[in-house]
Amino acid sequence: MKKSTFKSILFFCLLTISLQINAQTGGGMWLPNQLNEKEMKEMGMKISAKQLFNTSNPSIKDAIAHFGRGCTSEVISPKGLLLTNHHCGYYYIQSHSTVNNDLLTNGFWASNFEEEKPNEGLKATFIVDIKEVTSQILKGLDDNFSEEQRNQLIQDNIDKTLSALTKEIYQEIDILPFYNGNQYYAFVTETYEDIRLVGTPPSSIGKYGSDTDNWMWPRHTGDFSIFRIYADKNNHPAKYSKDNVPYKPKYYLPISIKEKKENDFSFVYGFPGKTQEYLPSSAIEQIIEVINPSRISLRNETLKILDQNMRENKEIKIKYASKYASIANGWKKWIGENQGLINTHAIQKKKDYETKLLKQTNASDDEKNKNLAILTSMDEIYKTSNSFIKASTYFNEVFYYNSETFRIASLLSNLLNSDNRNFEKNKDKIIKNLNKIYKNYDSELDKKVSAKMLSMYSMNIEPRFQIAGHEDYEKISSCEVLLNNLWNNSYITGSKGDLRSILSTNTQQIIKNKLKEDALISFISPYIEMYKNKISPYLNEYEKKLDSLQRNYMKAQLKAFPNKKFFPDANSTLRVTYGKIDGYSPKDGIYYKPFTTLSGVIEKYVPNDYEFDLPNKLMTLYNEKNYGPYSQKEDMIVNYIATNHTTGGNSGSPALDSQGNLVGLNFDRVWEGTMSDINYNSSICRNIMVDIRYILFIIDKFAGANRLINEMKIIK
Ligand code: ARG
Ligand code: GLU
Repeated sequence: MKKSTFKSILFFCLLTISLQINAQTGGGMWLPNQLNEKEMKEMGMKISAKQLFNTSNPSIKDAIAHFGRGCTSEVISPKGLLLTNHHCGYYYIQSHSTVNNDLLTNGFWASNFEEEKPNEGLKATFIVDIKEVTSQILKGLDDNFSEEQRNQLIQDNIDKTLSALTKEIYQEIDILPFYNGNQYYAFVTETYEDIRLVGTPPSSIGKYGSDTDNWMWPRHTGDFSIFRIYADKNNHPAKYSKDNVPYKPKYYLPISIKEKKENDFSFVYGFPGKTQEYLPSSAIEQIIEVINPSRISLRNETLKILDQNMRENKEIKIKYASKYASIANGWKKWIGENQGLINTHAIQKKKDYETKLLKQTNASDDEKNKNLAILTSMDEIYKTSNSFIKASTYFNEVFYYNSETFRIASLLSNLLNSDNRNFEKNKDKIIKNLNKIYKNYDSELDKKVSAKMLSMYSMNIEPRFQIAGHEDYEKISSCEVLLNNLWNNSYITGSKGDLRSILSTNTQQIIKNKLKEDALISFISPYIEMYKNKISPYLNEYEKKLDSLQRNYMKAQLKAFPNKKFFPDANSTLRVTYGKIDGYSPKDGIYYKPFTTLSGVIEKYVPNDYEFDLPNKLMTLYNEKNYGPYSQKEDMIVNYIATNHTTGGNSGSPALDSQGNLVGLNFDRVWEGTMSDINYNSSICRNIMVDIRYILFIIDKFAGANRLINEMKIIK
């Protein structure tokens, strides 16, 4: 080989390696009409960006639907079969369950269309088109406008733009801000409202490992469930009707059961909810030092109390399972997030970035001064707001999230202050809320939680955010005495009479008179007053200032680094993230492989345990190695991880291969990488997916639901 050829090959290799490294360090959740096709192809994608997103021909985006209140789903058959997570379908699966026919425990497989179960309120939304409308929305804006003037003008422009855009009657259009209000996009959507439950594995597969394994790798969960979209005769969205027919999609995902390997290209398409990637270091300091520790320490105590009571009492265990899961889900995520932010030196990294931004050579002195002023103001606001933020974080956790009794009392205290016009509307809302809360409420257990919460609030929050007599409540014993008394004199706990019948059978005046005599409401009301007078006005002011500063800071970042590609923070709009299947090293001396297998599921098995029990049928299939065409070599792959940058809302998102075939189902992230919402780091941020072959194996071999397999397009 000639020296120069060798050199150029070497140069080329180094170039590709460095390109790959660059591509890998960013992460990112990109709008599908703005994909960097070149980079995706360099990383291994074999199809064109047009095949992912095309508004004149069917493309992959036509198979992706926002599911329910915050998940993603995808169409996997020409008859509108919709795949999502088990935890995304959980609420609906539970709503069809009774003690005698418990779909959560037993699983469910409709054996024909007639058996597919309608779900009130469940919707699936497709994106038809995305258009940038920044110039229309920001038209007429003046730098000297106040925040109020700015918001008013933008709202007027949005209304004008909306009325000028055309759409079909069964479509909607939303206009949303991106990059903190520096850009605006319009989304044309179609929302289907007749979504029926078709199949779900039992929780022992769909929620295997439950809270212990949640946010963790290695993982062994078959977190999937299957629904179907129904449409009217014209294939358009329609409310539930028995005359509706299975939806014929513009596009559905082919499924590949080919072998997977480490380093394979992987992309995820879905609706990520919220990220905050462009905050200043001062904001991250507040998250690490104030917000997360407050939430974690309060929920620590709640979870301890719930856990002990759930272990002692079977009925409590069932009642509190879902509540415990959601309290624990946030708690565990924030612990991981804080550790990850600290371990990856996120604050220092942001500080260095700020220094770089301030020193950029191509900016005028004027601009440099402006940028310095933005960062200084933000720093000041974050520092001075710490005590307000701590108080409001505590307030929300204590009086709203962890104690259900306090939450009801707060709602009723607000009802007492409702004027004539809003009373009935608010009352109906509260009754609906009460029906949900009381279904799984245990007033004695909630008293224990509430006492602990109140004493923590009294102990850890400054006197100016307390009410008279609070010194006493620092002692848990005083809280217990107090709450015993309140619990015995309240409609909320049932001791004074039945709250729901009082609300639904009396006139406004009688209701108000009765609520005024309620000891719990009288106790909570001064706290709510304090919040309204001392915390909330400050927070409103502070948010207004920060909105404007963050918008200007974002603008400065976009300008200072014109060669850096900035993805817009997640805001529940459709995004694509790409990366590769990859293991990771969470700690010195440990390396996690990217795949888990059915042997690992069996290793974790604990008979009759509520998290790690397994169905016999699955054990038999394992013992007989009866995997059909779904195995890889001798093994059944169950879960795998990749460097895809995902967040809450990406649950149920399809994971696709270099050809755009469905190969996995996103459902979680690894614990060490949950800081990716604030500071993505490709060395430890991984998303967790169920291998599509495990899903097919469960549908086919475990459930025998061949009619579903027959609908799909499977590539071998
Ligand atoms: N951590 C995953 C997601 O936010 C899964 C949550 C459901 N699973 C559970 N065990 N709680 O949100
Ligand atoms: N389980 C999450 C969800 O419900 C996805 C995990 C994450 O936050 O990445 O959307």
